[in-house]
Amino acid sequence: MTKSGGGSNVMWGGRFAGGPSALMRQINASIGFDKRFWRQDIAASKAHAAMLGAQGIIPAEDAGQIAAALDRIAGEYEADGVPEDQALEDIHMHVEHRLAELIGPAAGRLHTARSRNDQVATDFRLWVRAAIDEVDAALTAFQRVLVARAEQHAESVMPGFTHLQSAQPVTLGHHLLAYYEMLRRDRSRFADARARLNENPLGSAALAGTSFPLDRDSTAAALGFDRPTANSLDAVSDRDFALDYLMAAAQCSLHLSRLAEELIIWASQPFAFVSLPDDFSTGSSIMPQKRNPDAAELVRGHSGRISGAMVSLVMTMKGLPLAYSKDMQDDKPPVFEAHDLLMLSVQALAGMVEKTRFNTDRMRSAAEAGFATATDLADWLVRAAGLPFREAHHIVGRAVKLAEDKGVGLAGLAVADLQAIDPLIDSRVFEVLTVDASVRSRTSYGGTAPDRVRDQIRRARDMLG
Ligand code: ARG
Repeated sequence: MTKSGGGSNVMWGGRFAGGPSALMRQINASIGFDKRFWRQDIAASKAHAAMLGAQGIIPAEDAGQIAAALDRIAGEYEADGVPEDQALEDIHMHVEHRLAELIGPAAGRLHTARSRNDQVATDFRLWVRAAIDEVDAALTAFQRVLVARAEQHAESVMPGFTHLQSAQPVTLGHHLLAYYEMLRRDRSRFADARARLNENPLGSAALAGTSFPLDRDSTAAALGFDRPTANSLDAVSDRDFALDYLMAAAQCSLHLSRLAEELIIWASQPFAFVSLPDDFSTGSSIMPQKRNPDAAELVRGHSGRISGAMVSLVMTMKGLPLAYSKDMQDDKPPVFEAHDLLMLSVQALAGMVEKTRFNTDRMRSAAEAGFATATDLADWLVRAAGLPFREAHHIVGRAVKLAEDKGVGLAGLAVADLQAIDPLIDSRVFEVLTVDASVRSRTSYGGTAPDRVRDQIRRARDMLG
């Protein structure tokens, strides 16, 4: 491609005697990042050219030439990448400039009834739509991993925590499926965003619409949009679709960061609940014994950057008057960054969960320590002895204190010890004091009992198809 050179701008320089300064070019150029949606730019131009030809707005012959040349440019970009020229500002002008080199003055007809304002809004929507589809596929794959691992561990017992203190025994399968649920909501948020964004801004022109007899339904259909946007001012100024994406991404990354944090804690030596796989750990250059959970830490860290990207676009859009302002050119880097980080995070975390070895013996003994069946004892007193729960709670508190003093678990107390605390207790109580009995008893809908976990797995598999 020939350089566009100095002097006034070839695309808009009619009213200018001189060209922009080097600094002006530099601050103005977005080609460094918007080249990323050259495919969308070319697809939208092809749809526009075909519609202009069909409507008789430009000669059919020119429309045909434009379409063929756009295909050729796509081939060039595919093979060699987009050759960047800051004087040509952005991807829209790069494509148009190359088109002019290939077919001469007919290239100038493509921009009839169009502005870069509706062009960029269209390209970016198409790009975000494809990004959502990528994220959805990655999240679905991760959900499958969680369900498979949950099935292997539907009966494995671990401590359930509140305040990171042992609370009640749960099953590992149940714990993993909690993340399945988070991802289910994430996918639904992305799906909402996709449905809302799927309207075509093309044909809104600079801001006011156009005097040419466009067929906006046909470009919408050609680009897979459900309908044209309804208000041209809104269409060129709206970046809700990018914000919707970023907000869904930020929330999704929060979920990922929580699982990452749990893996980090679980992999630490005092916990030793998991051994992270070699493929997702790193060593230390000084401490030979180390196996660091770097990937999980980076997922945790990336969630901060993804939320930062979301806030960055919120700040860009806040208080902007209608319709287009150049500030909006800054909408793309945060979305691209967030998307790359999110895709990496989802895939790395899925890989970790798939290959992590769960040390189930260790989890079980941790569940047995810490008086995690205290609630079961209280529930038993309610059921078998008819006590009000608050009273039962008090009695169990004393039993815990006694067990603590004796250095045993609740199941290690003699029945006589328990009867000294409350004569209503008898030896049947031991049936509920083991961690297995505890988790098996939690059969309420959505509860941790292995049977309920298997129900949840069945429902998940139905949804995943
Ligand atoms: N590169 C610009 C952007 O990303 C394209 C739109 C330019 N529009 C304009 N009126 N200068 O926002």
